[in-house]
Amino acid sequence: STQPKAIVVIFGATGDLAKRKLFPSLYKLYKANKLSDDFAVVGVARGDMSNDDFRQSVIRSTDKIVKGRKDINDFASHFYFQAADVTDKESFDKLQTLLHKLDGEYQTEGNRMFYLAMAPEFFGTICENLKSSGLTSTEGWSRVVIEKPFGHDYVSAKELNDQIGRVFTEDQVYRIDHYLGKEMVQNITVIRFANAIFEELWNNQYISNIQITSSETLGVEDRGRYYESSGALLDMVQNHMLQMVALLAMEPPINLTRDEIQSEKVKVLRALRPFTEEEVDDYFVRGQYGNGYIEDRDVIGYREESNVDPNSTTDTFVAAKLMIDNYRWAGVPIYIRTGKRMKEKSTKIVIQFKDLPMNLYRDKNHPHPNLLVIHIQPDEGMTLHLNAQQRTGKEDSLPIQLHYCSNCDDKMNTPEAYERLLYDCLLGDATHYTHWDEVSISWKFVDTISKAWNKNKEVHFPNYESGSMGPAASDELLARDGFFWWSVA
Ligand code: BG6
Repeated sequence: STQPKAIVVIFGATGDLAKRKLFPSLYKLYKANKLSDDFAVVGVARGDMSNDDFRQSVIRSTDKIVKGRKDINDFASHFYFQAADVTDKESFDKLQTLLHKLDGEYQTEGNRMFYLAMAPEFFGTICENLKSSGLTSTEGWSRVVIEKPFGHDYVSAKELNDQIGRVFTEDQVYRIDHYLGKEMVQNITVIRFANAIFEELWNNQYISNIQITSSETLGVEDRGRYYESSGALLDMVQNHMLQMVALLAMEPPINLTRDEIQSEKVKVLRALRPFTEEEVDDYFVRGQYGNGYIEDRDVIGYREESNVDPNSTTDTFVAAKLMIDNYRWAGVPIYIRTGKRMKEKSTKIVIQFKDLPMNLYRDKNHPHPNLLVIHIQPDEGMTLHLNAQQRTGKEDSLPIQLHYCSNCDDKMNTPEAYERLLYDCLLGDATHYTHWDEVSISWKFVDTISKAWNKNKEVHFPNYESGSMGPAASDELLARDGFFWWSVA
């Protein structure tokens, strides 16, 4: 495979994301021979740390994930630490000196990937300082990866984007949405566009509704401060959930390039039915977890968590009915729901097909529509729900399932989302990153909802128990249309 040469500079190298995702992913790329010996990683953070200590923290971060770590020391020897205050120009001059030295040592040809994995208020400043200290003008390529959150509403996202745009061109900007790196999210377009039997039915003639659920068992953990200013709507819906909607609903692109795929996704987002603030309650449900029982233990409610206001009205759950007002989807609701402290950790898409005009075998009490279930996580695969006769002796049809699981044999070795995305960026492929047009349209859509919710603080929270599937209003949202949330394998 191609082995890109580059220096990866990680801002926020002592942070959670670096340790949980970035270092282990880089190690997996290294093990898979996707990095040559010509690479270096520079960790940037506040406070002093020796290269040795930094390397130890890199080694520790791979403990759980990777078996057989013979070559771990060799891998870690590519890591360097640079103390920096990112608001201070001098720090960037020091960084420049280090990068020049490493360019020579590792023959990285001046290629640089800057990964911004720290508090978002510094993203703009870092970009500006990278430019003014000459770090972005090298012989090779330079690219910047921007972690979430990309703003907290349209205005702040635009401001951030303009700031980045003064330093990097759109080609150089990699806005990460790690859901786009997941195996089965990437598979949505393959399932749709490589199978004759689905795409022909993929419209309002044959699909009755689509349901996307991303549930978590974790609570807010130690991210109370961030989460209080975010909530599930901004944390999950604006980005991950709407990205899945776009992939499911987009028209076939004329080819599989970044530009074509992104422009089809943009069209879906533009077709999302807009709401007025008054209409928000007809389409959106918010929830917040109370205490409860989950995975064999008692857990506290959101308002009792640390760094959370005891009267907080932050949403930890969102369910919504989205309508895409275009030719293909008119009349087909797309329901989404996501929340913390729910019954299970799982992301799943259920496509419910319409009933036959007349079904000779249909048991009136047990309708079994055809379903296509795309399992995003923890299982990766899909299930097709059909009907067949099963030795009952009666002229009866029973639901059967065709099941495919791509990671069931070997969960250890499926590449992580971050692993794919880091590699894509090193290769210069931004197909699975988000374009500014996608980000800006989804913010505009979500802004109406957050405005309505911020104005109306009269909510009865908590309104769902930890370990449940969310508030009753989420079920009512579908019941009004004659549907219910499928709980299926
Ligand atoms: C992140 C959110 O973007 O996605 C987290 O900030 C959330 O709050 C996480 O837990 C979920 O990701 P995954 O890959 O575990 O589904």
